[in-house]
Amino acid sequence: MEARNLLRFLFLSLISVAAFVLVLTFLQLSYQLPRTVELLDCATNSAWRASRNPCNHALDTPHHPLDPLTIREFEKVRSILSSHELFESSSYALHSVDLEEPEKTLVLKWKKGETLLPRKASVVARVDSKSVYVLTVDLGTGNLTVRETGEHSGYPMLTVEDVTGTTLALFASADFNRTIVQRGIDLADLACLPISTGWYGKSEENRRLIKVQCYSMDGTANFYMRPIEGLTFLLDLDTKQVVEISDTGRNIPIPKAADTDYRYSVLQEDPHAMKPLNPISIEQPKGPSFTVEDKYLVKWANWEFHLKPDARAGVIVSLAKFRDPDTGELRDVMYKGFSSELFVPYMDPTDAWYFKTYLDAGEYGFGLQAMPLDPLNDCPRNAYYMDGVFAAADGTPYVRPNMICVFESYAGDIGWRHSESPITGMEIREVRPKVTLMVRMVASVGNYDYIVDWDFQTDGLIRVKVGLSGMLMVKGTTYDNINQIPNQENLHGTLLSENVIGVIHDHYISFYLDMDIDGSENSFVNVNIKRQQTSPGESPRKSYLEAIRNVAKTEKDAQIKLKLYDPSEFHVINPSKKTRVGNPAGYKIVPGATAASLLDLEDPPQIRAAFTNNQIWVTPYNQSEQWAAGMFVYQSHGEDTLATRSDRDRAIENKDIVLWYTLGFHHIPCQEDFPIMPTVSSSFQLKPVNFFERNPILRSPPNLEKDLPVCKPVASV
Ligand SMILES: *[C@@H]1O[C@H](CO)[C@@H](O)[C@H](O)[C@H]1NC(C)=O
Ligand SMILES: *[C@@H]1O[C@H](CO)[C@@H](O)[C@H](O)[C@H]1NC(C)=O
Ligand SMILES: *[C@@H]1O[C@H](CO)[C@@H](O)[C@H](O)[C@H]1NC(C)=O
Repeated sequence: MEARNLLRFLFLSLISVAAFVLVLTFLQLSYQLPRTVELLDCATNSAWRASRNPCNHALDTPHHPLDPLTIREFEKVRSILSSHELFESSSYALHSVDLEEPEKTLVLKWKKGETLLPRKASVVARVDSKSVYVLTVDLGTGNLTVRETGEHSGYPMLTVEDVTGTTLALFASADFNRTIVQRGIDLADLACLPISTGWYGKSEENRRLIKVQCYSMDGTANFYMRPIEGLTFLLDLDTKQVVEISDTGRNIPIPKAADTDYRYSVLQEDPHAMKPLNPISIEQPKGPSFTVEDKYLVKWANWEFHLKPDARAGVIVSLAKFRDPDTGELRDVMYKGFSSELFVPYMDPTDAWYFKTYLDAGEYGFGLQAMPLDPLNDCPRNAYYMDGVFAAADGTPYVRPNMICVFESYAGDIGWRHSESPITGMEIREVRPKVTLMVRMVASVGNYDYIVDWDFQTDGLIRVKVGLSGMLMVKGTTYDNINQIPNQENLHGTLLSENVIGVIHDHYISFYLDMDIDGSENSFVNVNIKRQQTSPGESPRKSYLEAIRNVAKTEKDAQIKLKLYDPSEFHVINPSKKTRVGNPAGYKIVPGATAASLLDLEDPPQIRAAFTNNQIWVTPYNQSEQWAAGMFVYQSHGEDTLATRSDRDRAIENKDIVLWYTLGFHHIPCQEDFPIMPTVSSSFQLKPVNFFERNPILRSPPNLEKDLPVCKPVASV
């Protein structure tokens, strides 16, 4: 090769590696170190300014026992670990570094102004690519305690470096390069996805594995619509070797790039496009009504709660309390709530697809995948933004800016109303607008975007909503019209475009809801709605409905499958806190549209995701049981899930209990989901039930013209 050509080749390969790393960076890594321009010290500037300018978190200090680790605390953990004998002479990777929350009883007793409870970090480390340690690092004393060594089938969450390493390992493999080139793909156009392998038997055990599938970026940013079908690389995450290449789809063309892009800047103008809507925004002439104290304590209307980002869960809401409008008392509602795990099984059992059965939180970190929110589009003006601070595998902290937003939402809905008809002679029209407080995070787990909203209402209701958008995971096919498909052939999905199948799949997202209704000692009541028959002659009616209360004694009484024809309400009550007329104070969980997993209970992914076997579970509180699919989920065998714990059938009556709810979606893709999906969402509610003596928003005022001046279009000051 001529010298100049050689240089060009090397240069190109460098570019292609860079492009490749860039794509993966975009997908998985997003290291965002604090920017160096115009840094504001978040501690001394008001929350509102901090929300608009990049923050310098270097000086952050914790104010509340539940505040996440600060940059300085991360640094301290790092220095304690690096000088400890366990790590001194070994290579190690930190798979998570989080606040070790103090015991619940201590947190509940703690009052603002008191000295902070001892700050501790909980660290999951792998040493010499073998042993897993769960450590507690006492940030005050510098003491390090090994709490547990990982005697589990599963491995801890992937680190960012695991994923970057995958990239480098692939390019170091001549087989990888050859296989890609044989498919007619320029290595410079390659984008690859690291896919958790799940667990499918002996050959996959005792080593950390990952599968990689690739796409062509040629001609589109939406490479997800251009799969190199049937090509799967199996890699050992620790030795960085390509273990196996499965190449079964050589006859399948790569779908076209045309009409797959979704970026506003590159879309052609459509002659039939609708006239754009006039701009719309919410005016708050006097500013927002909520405050955020000490960075994490949100106060709005009668609500008060602690809110924080989390690498694994995404968003954690703690100590949610509601000020009773009758007594002024601040009453406990929920000690802690968060999305504990996801399960996303694809319904295609063939070679290149069967393993796609993601447990996104435990495998990838739901919070780690949350990208910065886009102001004005993800969240309206006047939103408050909260940054996440996480640790890389060597313990170095980095900042994920604008990871969570908080804002007041007014969708034109009605809080309550009544009009009197003229026949009564009373001219009454009383209406109250509904304004709510929204907490939002969006996790972009590769192709899919999960929008998680916690919506707090003035009447004490909390609505948790999950929206799905982003790109489908699609499969390449030789067909470009369904009339070519032989009768017997199962596509496992819908033909969405020429050579593109949207594969059928499910989404489950399981919420951990540690309800504390007026204190921790609570019970779970299944209020069953039963049809009763009247006796002959008793009434002109033959039947009516009755509500029959069954208090769950043990965990198995609270393993609930939802049934339309045998309905119930599900209450968490405080049996010793009664209303004036004697009803126990409670909150009920109100499911919305949802789906149940129909997979065989013995199917390996279903065993691992057995938390989807029921929609509702109730467990006794145990600080170390917070993850629905277990602590170590990657390649786990499902021996430590919500289901295995609940089957211990522990007592749950009048105890500190945790409610679990799993929201589900079946997704049969349709053409409108191509090339990017309009958001589909579903929700559930936590609703007061005999918690208040009366309608808690009875005295809320209506809107008046004078309170709502038509604001001039000036940007926020
Ligand atoms: C440090 O941890 C060890 C256990 O690893 C314990 O025995 C010792 O008492 C601790 N020291 C302090 C000062 O907390
Ligand atoms: C594979 O291709 C990349 C990009 O062209 C190159 O940098 C790398 O050296 C190749 N690897 C091998 C083993 O040939
Ligand atoms: C708390 O959870 C851990 C992990 O599942 C378990 O080993 C322990 O026995 C539980 N404690 C109680 C009191 O149930």
